[in-house]
Amino acid sequence: MSTVKLTVNGRAVSVDCEDRTLLVHLLRDHLNLTGTHVGCDTSQCGACVVHIDGRAVKSCTTLAGQADGANVTTIEGIAKGDQLHPMQEAFRDNHGLQCGFCTPGMIMSAIDIVNRYGGNLDEATVRHELEGNICRCTGYHNIVKAVLDAASRMKVAQAAE
Ligand code: FES
Ligand code: FES
Repeated sequence: MSTVKLTVNGRAVSVDCEDRTLLVHLLRDHLNLTGTHVGCDTSQCGACVVHIDGRAVKSCTTLAGQADGANVTTIEGIAKGDQLHPMQEAFRDNHGLQCGFCTPGMIMSAIDIVNRYGGNLDEATVRHELEGNICRCTGYHNIVKAVLDAASRMKVAQAAE
């Protein structure tokens, strides 16, 4: 057993868990943050993507201990109260989801993509960058539209801060 101390969605937490515990299980089973999904367990589908220190990672293949001391953000941590994150709004407005299973991971990956590329995003880049996120419902077109839309919205939001 180890004690893992980390900050999750702005809250300091300390969790006693087995050394083999994966970050996704720490989030879902110990902290009840079930918005992070498990689709494959083998680092292929992207349903489990969260941010560690601002970068997207697949939490199904990250040991909880690897996040010791880190800042972790999950899908539950990106809205500001009732105000959805611009990426969430863009997914809603562009019909970027159907069943919603892939959506938390898609959104966390997409925020990281926009943060890295800023205004230099185009459709081909979004499609390439989202290769690690699988959606079985949407055919991806509206997801790509949503990410490009969100890139503009995030720019406006950042300019207003
Ligand atoms: S559950 Fe992590 S990539 Fe599929
Ligand atoms: S919306 Fe159903 S898997 Fe993507």
